[in-house]
Amino acid sequence: MKGPAVIAYLVCLVVGQVPSPKRITYEGNQVWKIANKTTTLKVLKSLEQDKRLTIWGLTPDGVDAMIHAGAVDQVREKLLENNLEYKVSMEDVQKAIDEENPKAGQDLEGRKGFRLTWNYYHNLDDIYDFLHYLEHTYPKLCTVRTIGGSAEGRPIKLLKISNGRKGNRAVFVEGGIHAREWISPATVTYIIYQFVSGYNKETSSMRGLDWYVVPVLNPDGYLYSYNIDRMWRKNRSVTKSKECLGVDLNRNWGYDWGKNGSSEDPCHNSYGGRKPFSEPETTSVARFFLDNPDIDWRGYVSIHSYGQYIVYPWGSPNAVLDDNAELNKVAKEAAVNIVSAGGETYTVGPAGLTIYPAAGISMDWAKGSQAIKYAYTIELRDTGRYAFLLPAKYIKPTAEEALIAVRTIAKAVAS
Ligand code: ARG
Ligand code: ZN
Repeated sequence: MKGPAVIAYLVCLVVGQVPSPKRITYEGNQVWKIANKTTTLKVLKSLEQDKRLTIWGLTPDGVDAMIHAGAVDQVREKLLENNLEYKVSMEDVQKAIDEENPKAGQDLEGRKGFRLTWNYYHNLDDIYDFLHYLEHTYPKLCTVRTIGGSAEGRPIKLLKISNGRKGNRAVFVEGGIHAREWISPATVTYIIYQFVSGYNKETSSMRGLDWYVVPVLNPDGYLYSYNIDRMWRKNRSVTKSKECLGVDLNRNWGYDWGKNGSSEDPCHNSYGGRKPFSEPETTSVARFFLDNPDIDWRGYVSIHSYGQYIVYPWGSPNAVLDDNAELNKVAKEAAVNIVSAGGETYTVGPAGLTIYPAAGISMDWAKGSQAIKYAYTIELRDTGRYAFLLPAKYIKPTAEEALIAVRTIAKAVAS
C-alpha cells in the first residue's frame, strides 16, 4: 500500500468500516462490431483467451466485442490480417456506463408506496421493496415468497400473480439471471406493474393464468454489477480457481449440462459450474418446481439482453423440436405484434441455430426436463449500439415490447 491508501485504510479502521472495494473503470475500452464470417469466432476467441478483448454478443449484423484498453492496435492488426471488417460502435465504454443511468431526481422525492420507477435502473432493495408493496396493495392477486438464497445469502424472491381459481395453467418468468443485463429486471418489474395495476383492462388470457415471476434470479451478481463491475455477468460463488469467481447461471441447469457453448474454465464468462445445479440460484428454481408438483406449468420465459431475439429450444443441440412449427408460429406472432405497435424488429428461431449454441440453459431445462411446451428466451433491446449499456430512457419502450411478447405467449398458453 502507498501513503494515501494507508491513511485511508487507517481512517476506515478507526471509523470502524471495511474499506469498500473500488468500482472498476472501463476507460479506454471500445466496442467493435465485427463482420461474422466463418473465421470470426475462432479469431475472436483466441484474442479473448489472450485477454485482448471480451466477446459481448452475436447480433444479426455481426459479433460485438469489447476491446480492452491498450489492446486496440493489436486487435486491429489481427482483424486486418484475417480480412475481418469491423466498425467502432462504442468509442469509450466508461462514457457509456456514466451516461446510461442518470441519478434519480425529483420524481423520487416524497414518493409514497414504492420507489421503483422505469426512468432509472434501480438497486436491488428498490426492486424487492416493490414486490412487497404489490403484495400489500393487491393482496387478492399478489403473493411474495422467498424460494431460496443466493451464493452470498441474499433472498431470491418470487412474486405469484393469480386470480386464485383452481386449475389455472401456469407460466414461469425469469429475469436477471445475468447480472449486467439490467434491462431484464427493469422489464420484468414493468410487466408486473402494468399487469397488476391495470388488471381489469388486461387480456383475459393473461388474467386466466397463474404467473410465477422471479425478477432477479442473480441478486449477488446484480448488486456487484450495480456497485463494482458494470460488466459482470455470472453469480458470485467461489470456484475451484483461486483468481476467478462466479458461475454462469445460464449454463448451470441440469439439461444437456456442459455441452457445446459452455466453458469448463472458472475464469470464463460462460463457466457452467462444477456440476449441474451446483449453484443455489438455479437450485432454488428447480426445488420450487419439485416442491410444487401440482402446478400446471405450460410456459417458461427467460428474459435477457441484448440482440432483439425471440428464441425457443433447443439452445444446445442443433436438433429441431417436434413442435418447432408451433413455437415458431407464436414467436413470429409476437414479433409481428411488436412491429405493429411501432416497436423494434425481433429475430425469431431456435436458439442454438439463431444466436449461438449454449448448453445447460434454463429454457432447455424447462422444455427438456419439465416438459413445458412454450419455453422461450427473449433477448431485449438493442442490437449493439448500446448493448448492455442501454440508456434508462429506453426502459419503457423496451419493456412495452416485452409485454406484447408475453401477452402473445399467454394467448397461446391459454388456448
Ligand atoms: N444470451 C443467452 C446466454 O448466453 C442466450 C441464451 C439463449 N440460448 C442460446 N442458445 N443462444 O445465456
Ligand atoms: Zn443473458
